[in-house]
Amino acid sequence: MLKLEQLYSLVDQAVSRLEWPVEPKLLYDPLRYMMDMGGKRLRPRLCLVSYNLFKDDIGEHILTPALALEVFHNFTLIHDDIMDNADIRRGVPTVYRKWNDNIAILSGDTMCLWAFKMIGQAPKETLAKALDLFTKTTIEVCEGQQLDMDFETRNDVSLKEYIQMIGLKTSVLLACSSAMGAVIAGADDKACKALYDFGYKLGIAFQIQDDWLDSFGDEKTFGKKIGGDILNNKKTWLLIKCQELAREKGKDCLLRLGNLLEMNQSQGQKKIEAVKAFYQEFDIDSLARKTINSYYAEAMMSLRECGLDLDQVRQMETIASSLLGRNR
Ligand code: IPE
Ligand code: IPE
Ligand code: MG
Ligand code: MG
Ligand code: MG
Repeated sequence: MLKLEQLYSLVDQAVSRLEWPVEPKLLYDPLRYMMDMGGKRLRPRLCLVSYNLFKDDIGEHILTPALALEVFHNFTLIHDDIMDNADIRRGVPTVYRKWNDNIAILSGDTMCLWAFKMIGQAPKETLAKALDLFTKTTIEVCEGQQLDMDFETRNDVSLKEYIQMIGLKTSVLLACSSAMGAVIAGADDKACKALYDFGYKLGIAFQIQDDWLDSFGDEKTFGKKIGGDILNNKKTWLLIKCQELAREKGKDCLLRLGNLLEMNQSQGQKKIEAVKAFYQEFDIDSLARKTINSYYAEAMMSLRECGLDLDQVRQMETIASSLLGRNR
């Protein structure tokens, strides 16, 4: 088994080797811009590390499918930024702001298709399984994204519905990434499933942390505009928990929160401050932290149930724990 740093560096090298067509420029420049602007590259890392739990022969047959996950992820971000009116990502202007909506839509679509082409490079013996897993996952991500949008105009979203929604928009891709390496390595179904479950639970913790960072992170480090979720009335973990606690406190309190959510765009900064003050009043911050930790613990449990040896478990645990206190 290689060291994590070695595997991460193989991912980075493979990303920098990627070559895209030059023309049409307005189709491929945004794609290159997005792929070159960095990011944590968590999904290809998970995939490569998962493969390496079972096999040592790292080459294009696993690197290309691993990168497919990153290309697909970046496609979702390009479209997500249009849907969320987000101006900044990874500290730079989003694709639709730098170019325009039409360009962002088509470049995004193209990335999605390239991702399928790249998954297609998985070895023949495991291709059918890999493609099946990937296709199912990509459809689910779209389902989650639509639920996320539907929830913007609802004020009665439960935590259970929220978890189902983030399970689709975020977790399934982390689950797929963490299972994909094992699938391509030809690991048995039990191990693939356990790695899938691990990625799924980790994804839930990861998205709640993303919600937290969207309100309480540092704009420079996080690379996204703080308060975007509040402005969009996103039903984040923080907001739903806050609504739940306000409801328990009484009608007036819930009304006060409801009025804040109705504040219009021209009062943007005021709205962000007021909602954050509400979160602080209910100590949402530490409740979120507790929930993140408990999903993280569940992720670890899935790992221990999958027949992997101690070194293999440790390798996956190390990736997971590096995400726990992430600030970007
Ligand atoms: C952002 O994903 C979208 C979410 C699922 C929260 P990442 O936080 O992995 O984004 P990058 O790729 O590192 O920028
Ligand atoms: C991430 O949701 C889900 C997908 C992009 C599929 P967010 O909308 O919270 O992601 P960020 O915060 O913009 O990265
Ligand atoms: Mg979104
Ligand atoms: Mg977004
Ligand atoms: Mg977010």
